[in-house]
Amino acid sequence: MNFEIKKVSDIGFCFGVRRAIEMLERTAIEKGKIDSLGAVVHNERVIRKLEKSGVNVIKNPEEIKSNIVAISSHGASPEIETSLRATRVEVLDTTCPFVKRAQLAASQLADAGFQVIIYGDANHPEVKGLLGWAQGKGFAILNSQELNARSDLSLHTGIIAQTTQIPENFILFAGDALKILYRKDAEIRIIDTICPGVRKRQAISLDLARKADLMLVIGGRSSANTRRLAELCSEVTETHLISGAEDLDPLWFENKKLVGITSGTSTPDEVIEEVEKKLREIGSKK
Ligand code: F3S
Repeated sequence: MNFEIKKVSDIGFCFGVRRAIEMLERTAIEKGKIDSLGAVVHNERVIRKLEKSGVNVIKNPEEIKSNIVAISSHGASPEIETSLRATRVEVLDTTCPFVKRAQLAASQLADAGFQVIIYGDANHPEVKGLLGWAQGKGFAILNSQELNARSDLSLHTGIIAQTTQIPENFILFAGDALKILYRKDAEIRIIDTICPGVRKRQAISLDLARKADLMLVIGGRSSANTRRLAELCSEVTETHLISGAEDLDPLWFENKKLVGITSGTSTPDEVIEEVEKKLREIGSKK
């Protein structure tokens, strides 16, 4: 097989994930074991590596056994933050600054008396946190038909997005929402809370996908931004979401000239390197 392999220029961990992992590793070395409330990032390999450094994932505050508890890069609701700070353990807040920006937008809208619409997945930890920052005045939604069916919409509404959503989809949703919400005396605020790193990763991945015969998106299936990248690339070319080299099927590469590679923002460099190595092996076979 004879195909070219091309990687996007920005791949692997994003700024927020890199920052969270560094904070955890540094603190574990300096102060000892840490309990992390929820997975720091949605990547099994990263979690297992962190476990070896003394970072243990817990599901709720009752499970805290260490002297330090970490809030993940996805952030937490103010209720959870307050309950953690009320315990005697030290709180290590690794919330990504871009998630903090979305939390601030939700809280400022709620303070100003606005209903808060979060364009995002209600089951994702970041969105659960954002709902808390919206102080009970918010709901999460991904579909404008569902919005249209609601009878509890306010005259004063703010719309924000989960940081990892696809910008074009948010624009479409906000446009539909505007038509649904617009009435006499309405005040509607749309705040762009999508992460600039995700925006860039999506744009360069789509660019490569347009040229490639096949796109590989490397990352965990539980990672929202990885799934969204795969969704985006699959609109323009054959795309496979893989968690690592072990998922590669040589049959995919028959008659392919250009294979593009991108990754989710919580995928470690070594996983990407392993995929490249296996691809070169597949490519070298006749
Ligand atoms: Fe933060 Fe964006 Fe990464 S929100 S955690 S820099 S994907």
